[in-house]
Amino acid sequence: MTISQEDRKAGWLAQARRMAAHIRNKTSDLAPTTMRNDVSVYTDPVRHAAERQKLFRETPVVACLSSQLPKPGSYRLFDETGVPIVVVRSSDGEVRAFLNICMHRGARLVREREGTAKLFTCWFHGWSFDNKGKLAAVPEKDRFEGGLAQSEHLISVPAAERYGLVFVQATPGSTMDIDKHLGSFAPVLEALELDQCEHVKSGELPVKSNWKYALDTYGEGYHFAALHKATLAPYFRNDITVYDKFDRHHRVGFASRQMEEWAFKPEEEWPLSGPSGIHYLYPNTIIFVGSVRPGYSYTTLFRHFPGEEVGETVTHKSIYAPRGVNSDEYRKEVEAGFDATAHVVITEDYVTAAEGWRNMTMMPKGATVVYGRQEIALQNQHRDIAEGAGMPLPKTAMQEAAE
Ligand code: FES
Ligand SMILES: [Fe+2]
Repeated sequence: MTISQEDRKAGWLAQARRMAAHIRNKTSDLAPTTMRNDVSVYTDPVRHAAERQKLFRETPVVACLSSQLPKPGSYRLFDETGVPIVVVRSSDGEVRAFLNICMHRGARLVREREGTAKLFTCWFHGWSFDNKGKLAAVPEKDRFEGGLAQSEHLISVPAAERYGLVFVQATPGSTMDIDKHLGSFAPVLEALELDQCEHVKSGELPVKSNWKYALDTYGEGYHFAALHKATLAPYFRNDITVYDKFDRHHRVGFASRQMEEWAFKPEEEWPLSGPSGIHYLYPNTIIFVGSVRPGYSYTTLFRHFPGEEVGETVTHKSIYAPRGVNSDEYRKEVEAGFDATAHVVITEDYVTAAEGWRNMTMMPKGATVVYGRQEIALQNQHRDIAEGAGMPLPKTAMQEAAE
């Protein structure tokens, strides 16, 4: 599949037209109804364990951008699902992933977070493996009577590369169908041109809440006016959303204050320069194209990983320059963009998430939270996550009374 620049522009224009119409008509994309959700969805350790297994180990998850494995031999660790994995671009250019476990006696094979290597050499007894996972050299090999076999090659896990993203499914021997997983979201991802992006800065944002509470904070603009009064509300409206669902993935756009001016002008005068908005790549990744300040645009990945405990999450955040870094000045600007978003997330969204999640653990059995019609992304996200984890959402007291 290859999307032309005309098609990409037509895509932004279609989005912008819907946004402008909402501004003029004082409307928004909305869910058909409100939805109540049992708080145990956020606090139940059994559900949490099912999600960790089904969504994070038996589903393709983004390990990095393709550009972070730039050449044959480039590798990176991917430990965030709890399974120790090394992702590598092999000598044939293919991306492969292996358990980061030496096949001699189980030592942690690769210890640097990232790098380039022809061979991975174990620090315990010095066995070496090539970047296709094959056992390449063994000191004093003749002491292994009968020789060494296939079973001494590294254990591979499914990996694939699509549209500038590297996906890994953290279960050895499982089958990964990445195109089926992406489904109708594929052209949306392709149009983001992630393969053109250059990595600038990464960091970890920990939060003491369930991972879904953290994820929820990215899916609605309803909280901008109250929570982000000083940071986002001057630039973005909290009442206008453009929402599209693509299988289990979705895209959400929020109206900026700048749009209020051009929504009333002829289309030819609209300052459209690229895609924008929140792109949710099921189960855990947010691709944010834009900036906390309109007029600036970066590509930011937020990958949310649950800890072993139901109330532990780490968000791995990386910012990329959409078309590469061409000057030191620009690099500093993108770094400042990273810091500005991280500040908002840590001091506003994640403070709320930690307090809110703890409060949920104090609520009586059967208590619910409610997502309004504007929180449409959250409604669908919770249904899809529950389905993917094989854990139906509990019936609320209201649903039971209605039956
Ligand atoms: S455990 Fe790796 S060489 Fe012995
Ligand atoms: Fe927020």
